[in-house]
Amino acid sequence: MSTNPVLNGLRPVIPELLGEAAFVYIAKAREVAKKGIDVISFGVGQPDIPTFDHIIEEAKKALDERFTGYTETPGIPELREAIADYLNERYGANVSPGEVIVTTGAKTAIFLALMAYLNPGDEIIVPEPSYPAYPEVARALGARPVFVPLKWLGEGRGFELDMEAIEAAVTPKTKMIVLNNPHNPSGTMFTPKQVDELMDIARRHRLIILADEIYDNFIYEGDFKSVLTHGDWRNHVLYVNGFSKTFSMTGWRLGYLVTRREIAEKLTRLAVNIYSCAVSFAQKAAVAALRGPWEPVKRMVEEFKRRRDAIVEELSKVPGFEAYTPKGAFYIFPRVKNLLDQIRMTTEDFVEYLLYKRGVVALPGTVFPDKAGEGYLRFSYAISIEKIREGIKRIREEAEKLLEEHAKS
Ligand SMILES: Cc1ncc(COP(=O)(O)O)c(C=O)c1O
Repeated sequence: MSTNPVLNGLRPVIPELLGEAAFVYIAKAREVAKKGIDVISFGVGQPDIPTFDHIIEEAKKALDERFTGYTETPGIPELREAIADYLNERYGANVSPGEVIVTTGAKTAIFLALMAYLNPGDEIIVPEPSYPAYPEVARALGARPVFVPLKWLGEGRGFELDMEAIEAAVTPKTKMIVLNNPHNPSGTMFTPKQVDELMDIARRHRLIILADEIYDNFIYEGDFKSVLTHGDWRNHVLYVNGFSKTFSMTGWRLGYLVTRREIAEKLTRLAVNIYSCAVSFAQKAAVAALRGPWEPVKRMVEEFKRRRDAIVEELSKVPGFEAYTPKGAFYIFPRVKNLLDQIRMTTEDFVEYLLYKRGVVALPGTVFPDKAGEGYLRFSYAISIEKIREGIKRIREEAEKLLEEHAKS
């Protein structure tokens, strides 16, 4: 890892953190594309369609009306109300607009939530593999992420939370537990029973659950249980959600944090000193997004379900790959350890091989902290079904070829 450069005799104290690998691989894929290779990327976690028209129209209208100044720090009142209404209609959560802080993307909401509870030396339990922001920001704050691997249930079954291991990881220093549901990078939707059990652990040990439900609209089957359905969420939950995925608004930078009023008020004073407010006209557009129509979201999710089915079908044909049917988000995290053992490659070697040889971008499981991703790959299937089939076919061809070569040697 690099150390900070010395400037004018002073060394800055920027924490040594992991970047986000998806961005690194996007840059590498560009290099490969320049060589004339047709790149198929399963790397990036954003829907491949533009933001829906009625949302863009609302932003344009706000600009025409010159709604371009600062807004209230926790968000314009109509957006906080629309967010509360959304959560209440959907989850019966009884959230009031005063408990909502609009943020510049879900990432800022995660940052505020961690700032709210973590002191240097505190511990946060992070089920792994994990979206990197939780452990990295925790480390930036001087806290210690305590990683607990998800349980791999085997081919066809996927992952679940390991409740016993999570409870065993609780110490007097533990303040928070991360629950990202549906889960990035595995696409797992944790069962209502597991969500209840995690809440019970939080109650028993008086802990906070940092619940990130940004994929709560990408559910393909089964029952999704939000932590907000628990009547006592105010005592145990800091809730994160956002607009990036559901409405394909990644570049608009809009998310939100929900927490009990006293904490929301206190955190607003932190927020004003960091970002003043979220983008004014984007907030107007976000109201339109939540108020609907929801048809475009529904159509997008139906398309993603077809894509999921296609990628599961194709991955199941790759020798040495163990796939399963993820119920949520738009990721799959197959176990490829059997293949890697036979062809004697590391996860990263195999990813680089696929990229430079066949122009296929998958992310190594190892970039999702901490170590449980070794021997797994992450695929984002936010691309067309044709590309999914072609990309996985290329991987199958390479896997078959490599296995054959190694069988001979
Ligand atoms: C689990 C999870 N949380 C938060 C985010 C960040 O979302 P935003 O673009 O709203 O900051 C992502 C984006 O990939 C994510 O996967």
